Amino acid sequence: MRHLLIAANWKMQGSQQMVAQWFAGFEQPKSSHPCQVVICPPFPYLQAVKTCIENKTIRLGAQDISDEASGAFTGQVSGMMLKDVGCDFVIVGHSERRLINQESDERVANKVLRALEVGLTPIVCVGETLDEHESGKTEAVVARQLGVVLSHLSTEQIAQCVVAYEPVWAIGTGRTASAQGAQEVHGFLRKQLSERDKKVGETVRIIYGGSVKPTNVHELVEMPDIDGALVGGASLDPHTFAEIITASE
Ligand code: PGA
Repeated sequence: MRHLLIAANWKMQGSQQMVAQWFAGFEQPKSSHPCQVVICPPFPYLQAVKTCIENKTIRLGAQDISDEASGAFTGQVSGMMLKDVGCDFVIVGHSERRLINQESDERVANKVLRALEVGLTPIVCVGETLDEHESGKTEAVVARQLGVVLSHLSTEQIAQCVVAYEPVWAIGTGRTASAQGAQEVHGFLRKQLSERDKKVGETVRIIYGGSVKPTNVHELVEMPDIDGALVGGASLDPHTFAEIITASE
């Protein structure tokens, strides 16, 4: 059985004060289903969030990782450092990094390897742009993005990953993929995983991201191949994020 995963991606937003206020306002819903909750704040606030989640079941995640292990790489943050400050997860290949920072599929694959090397769970993001969506290239794009990552990993390593399908046209736009539309892509990605290894196809979690809200999360996670959500904007408010967790059950 695949446990639900609800992850918050704060992106480049927040402050020390926001972290304190967020946790003062966040009441973790008592879940009847096992639901894993992950918070991914900006690097400078990892430690502050870690302190706030100490007595909770919430896990810490980072938003990016260097594809190098250590050395003269100004401004980069290594997997070892993320582990050192208490991260269990890391988002890799988010579309904002692929598009704004020109991260190639190869680079994303190397980052996934760095994460696995130190025992971090990579949340590997794939997703098509609006142009690609409208020209019917969704499957080709996500198959290529996931395929390059899979080609670098052993079956055991793939089993340690989470995949996130995030259509770029749905991120921060208020436009969500329909539950059925998202399911089709999730099913397609699961087939790709299964072709590599049947067990991996059954166990790897594939979560959805792109304008997830308390009002749409339920119909999404009800789909057979949608195992949770990666939440951007709506995770900045602790009450809304708690509502998303509740509604996902
Ligand atoms: P959004 O972002 O929920 O604000 O659309 C999702 C993401 O980019 O992970």
